[in-house]
Amino acid sequence: MNEKILCGKTLSQQILDTVSDEVENLRVNNQRQPALAVVLVGSDPASQVYVRNKKNACEKVAVKSLEYILPAETNQAELVNLIQQLNADESVDGILVQLPLPAHLDSKLIIDSILPNKDVDGFHRYNMGSLALKDPNICPCTPHGVMYMLDSINLEYHGKHAVILGTSNIVGRPMALELINRGATVTMCNSKTCNVVELIGAADIVIAAIGRPNFVQGAWLKPGCIAIDVGINRLDTGKLCGDIEFTSAFERAQYITPVPGGVGPMTIAMLLKNTLHCYKLNTRKEV
Ligand code: GUN
Repeated sequence: MNEKILCGKTLSQQILDTVSDEVENLRVNNQRQPALAVVLVGSDPASQVYVRNKKNACEKVAVKSLEYILPAETNQAELVNLIQQLNADESVDGILVQLPLPAHLDSKLIIDSILPNKDVDGFHRYNMGSLALKDPNICPCTPHGVMYMLDSINLEYHGKHAVILGTSNIVGRPMALELINRGATVTMCNSKTCNVVELIGAADIVIAAIGRPNFVQGAWLKPGCIAIDVGINRLDTGKLCGDIEFTSAFERAQYITPVPGGVGPMTIAMLLKNTLHCYKLNTRKEV
């Protein structure tokens, strides 16, 4: 692949290979197989695709996947009850509740009912707080995957200005914490930010996670910047595109991530790495 393109397929495979080797090592040593429980409430089509992709990835690295598909009408007590059962089950290492949840459920309360050391998403306040205190325990998968991509080009973070578009708990916020922890200067933008084009023009690293197809134009970018596209949008034509207009951005950037095949595969690889990390935390064994 072109040397400008940060290839998520290649980089994620490196992570999956390491996880796969470690799981194989456990098997050879007659140790328990790591297990990930994935909980899906309702039948949102996008969430169904994500959950299927996660299950397939588990199979590839021989991590056991347990699926809990619950009806959309599931109430809070029933969901918390399932999570508490999974918390108590020593054969379950990681618990993932696919978001978004139906509106009648309180996502914060649900996430906080997961045992922090089984929170493979890193969304629990203990894990998010630990990251904020520069003492990470389990890190959210997408930002951690982006850091792996940036580390793959030996990026020096000190003195670099990163501009993040989007302030979600899943991507924007933990992304800012990861970059701050490594010494970058970070600006976060939301949909009301006044001078977003000017800010992007001053950025050494642009990270777009807003779900707006082709929002960032190549002409806005500082020549030689790194453009990281977390967006996955489906156009009316059926084609997938990111939040950054790829063709024009490719001309300006020193490095760029494609969509698909960029950040997406990194998220799944990090989920499996986190599952193995949870296994180690929960079994307290060095493997
Ligand atoms: N919905 C969109 N992204 C994610 C993710 O990374 N984890 C979970 N649990 N739900 C999501």
